[in-house]
Amino acid sequence: MGNGSDEIIDLLIRSTCRPALDNIVVFSPGYSVYEVSAAINDVQVRSIDLLLPDFRPDVKILSKVADANTKLVFLCSPNNPTGNVIPLSTVERICSMLPDSLVVVDEAYIDFADMPSATTLLDTADNLLVLQTLSKAWGMAGLRIGIGIGREDVVTVLGKVKPPYNIGGMAQQMALDLLADTDGFERRVAEIKCERGRMFGELTALGIFSRVLPSSANYILVFSPQCRAVHGFLAENGVVVRLRDQRLIPDGLRITVGTPEENDRLLELLKARI
Ligand SMILES: Cc1ncc(COP(=O)(O)O)c(C=O)c1O
Repeated sequence: MGNGSDEIIDLLIRSTCRPALDNIVVFSPGYSVYEVSAAINDVQVRSIDLLLPDFRPDVKILSKVADANTKLVFLCSPNNPTGNVIPLSTVERICSMLPDSLVVVDEAYIDFADMPSATTLLDTADNLLVLQTLSKAWGMAGLRIGIGIGREDVVTVLGKVKPPYNIGGMAQQMALDLLADTDGFERRVAEIKCERGRMFGELTALGIFSRVLPSSANYILVFSPQCRAVHGFLAENGVVVRLRDQRLIPDGLRITVGTPEENDRLLELLKARI
């Protein structure tokens, strides 16, 4: 268990990589903390562009980019910010292609996806570690509870490196209480998935975005040359979306799927701006 999965990402890098010698492989665009933690620990990052148009990992290039000093390969599924999942067959292929690296599948948003977790591969893939968190679908980001699931010897090393009391007792107790409400959890996830479907349709129908990406997470990435103006207009009206105008996803805006009322408000504002 980590103080958020962010702590486990840092622990993984510190436990497996030698500063200034080893490297990690990440895919871009992706979650930025892999690179931030690597930089803090003086570990080289080898970044591979996801393949357009559907942001699949380029497995062929990975076999060329990774070398004997590649200690970790980070895969994010569903990916932040693009929302697509990586098929388990691809995860299996990467694990067998790089037997000397640890393949980390970051499943922060897996509860919103309609596919099994990569934990189902743990019996056969020796070099796999899966990250999950209570920060997203469980709505407990403030408690800082991340979960690393992997081979016993790997998890034992992480347990030795982590601070002994990394998650406070009150946070643990509160998490246990909230985890008991599985009905509430399932209801909330079902509502978000239903709203995600509605928002995908409505955002596409607006006709103001050049592309709206289908998503298996609780956000939708949309593209518009006007993304900065749209971002500013929404912010002025009290709606915060994430500007992701960067390489490979120029003009990107990541819109979190909120409650039905929040989503209606966003759609109203976008319609008013057309
Ligand atoms: C893909 C991904 N992984 C991990 C995290 C970190 O989650 P936490 O440290 O709250 O468990 C986030 C948070 O935004 C995320 O988007």
